[in-house]
Amino acid sequence: MSTTYRVNPGGSVRGTVRVPGDKSISHRAIMLGSIAEGTTRITGFLEGEDALATMNIFRALGVRIEGPDAGRVAVHGVGLHGLQAPSRELDCGNSGTSMRLLAGLLAGQRFTSVLTGDASLQKRPMRRVAEPLARMGARIETAPEGRPPLTVYGTTRLRGIEYAMPVASAQVKSALLLAGLYASGRTCVTEPAPTRDHTERMLRAFGYPVTSTGSTVCVESGGKLSACDIEVPGDISSAAFFLVAASIAPGSDLTLLHVGVNPSRTGVLEILRRMGADITLMNERLVGGEPVADIRVRHAPLKGVEVPPELVPLAIDEFPVLFVAAASAAGETLVTGAEELRVKESDRIAVMAEGLRRLGVEAQPMPDGMRIRGGPYGGGVVDSHGDHRVAMAFAVAALRASQAIEILDCAPVATSFPGFVQLAREAGLDIEERRD
Ligand code: S3P
Repeated sequence: MSTTYRVNPGGSVRGTVRVPGDKSISHRAIMLGSIAEGTTRITGFLEGEDALATMNIFRALGVRIEGPDAGRVAVHGVGLHGLQAPSRELDCGNSGTSMRLLAGLLAGQRFTSVLTGDASLQKRPMRRVAEPLARMGARIETAPEGRPPLTVYGTTRLRGIEYAMPVASAQVKSALLLAGLYASGRTCVTEPAPTRDHTERMLRAFGYPVTSTGSTVCVESGGKLSACDIEVPGDISSAAFFLVAASIAPGSDLTLLHVGVNPSRTGVLEILRRMGADITLMNERLVGGEPVADIRVRHAPLKGVEVPPELVPLAIDEFPVLFVAAASAAGETLVTGAEELRVKESDRIAVMAEGLRRLGVEAQPMPDGMRIRGGPYGGGVVDSHGDHRVAMAFAVAALRASQAIEILDCAPVATSFPGFVQLAREAGLDIEERRD
C-alpha cells in the first residue's frame, strides 16, 4: 500500500489547532518511566509510530505499560535494574531516537539485545553512539559501516568518561547520559553547540541529579529515578508546518495551543522571525519543567535570510518546511552548517532540492546546506522518499503553488504526526489522502 497526498493550490489557514505531543519527550517519558521506581502517568503522549515503537520495546523488556488511551499512558517502572532480557529483536521502526538512546540504556544491562529498524533506519549512522559507548566499556556490534542492526552485549562494568561530541547531537548526548546511569564514576558530555535538553530536564524531574556547566553535562551512577507525572506539550516540530503555512498564505491567522517552546527547540521561531514572520507567544508557562506557550501566527511577507549556523541544531527537524518558507520568500535564503540533514530519515538536502526544483523553485543543494531563491512556483508530483517531514513540508508548499501538488510515499507521516491530514484540512488546506 502506498499513500499519496494531493493538495490543491492556494487558500489560507485560520482558527485554533492543537498539534500532537512532542516526539522527543514522549520517547523519554517511556524510557525514564520504565527505569523509575513507581508508576509514571503520562498525558499528551504522542501516539505516533516512533513513540509506539519505544513503548513496545519496553514491553518486550518486561515493563507493564497501560495505554495509550487518548494520550494517557501509565508506565509501571521496574527500577534501574529491573529490565528483563527480551525474547526477540527490538524493532525501532523508523525511529533513530529509539535506537540511539536505547543503545546507551541497554549497554549497562545484564543481558544482550538486538536493535533493528526499517529500511530508512538501516541506512543511518550508529557509530556516533557505538564508538563513545565502547570507550565506556560497552560491546556493541554494528553491521558494516556502523549501520543497524546493533547487537548490544550488556555489561555491568561500564566506566564513566568525559566525551567531547564531534557532532551536535542530542541523541548521542542522551545515549551517553543513559549509559552513565549504569557506569562507575562520572559521565560527562560536552556539546559543540547547544542541542535539545529534554533528557537532562526529565532526569531532574524524576529526581535524578544532573549537573550542567557551560556546554558540559554530567551524571553519576548510584542514584535512582522516582516516578512522576508527565504532561507532554505539543511538538514544536509538528507546529512548524502550521507556522510556515500561516506565514506564507495571505489571509492566515492561526493559533497553536500548548506548544513546547523549550529554548533548545525554538530555532524555527527565531529563523522565521528573521524572515519577517508575525509570531506572538501567549500564556507562557512551565509544565513539568518544560516551557509551553500558545503561539499566534499571522500572514506576513517573508524575505530571504542567511541562517546563522549556530541556529541549525535548534531547528534541525524544521528545515524541510523552512526550505518551503524560503521558496515563498522574496530574495535568497542560504543555509550552511547543516550537513546533519543528510543523515535524517532521508537525505533532506537532496530530497528537498529535488522536490523544490520539480515545482520550479531555484534550489541549489550544497554539501552542508542549500541556497534557495524565493518566488512564484508551480505544482507537480514530488516524491517524499518516505520522509514524514518532507511529505508535510510539500503539503504546506501548495498554499503558494499555482497548481496542485501531488506527494508520493506519505505513509510515514504517521511516525510523528498522526491525524495530520485531518488537522491540516480543519486549518484550511485543501488536502486529500489516497491509499492504493
Ligand atoms: C532528537 C534529536 C535530533 C532530532 C531527532 C530527535 C531527540 O537528532 O533530529 O528528530 O529526540 O533527541 P540528533 O540529536 O541526532 O540531531
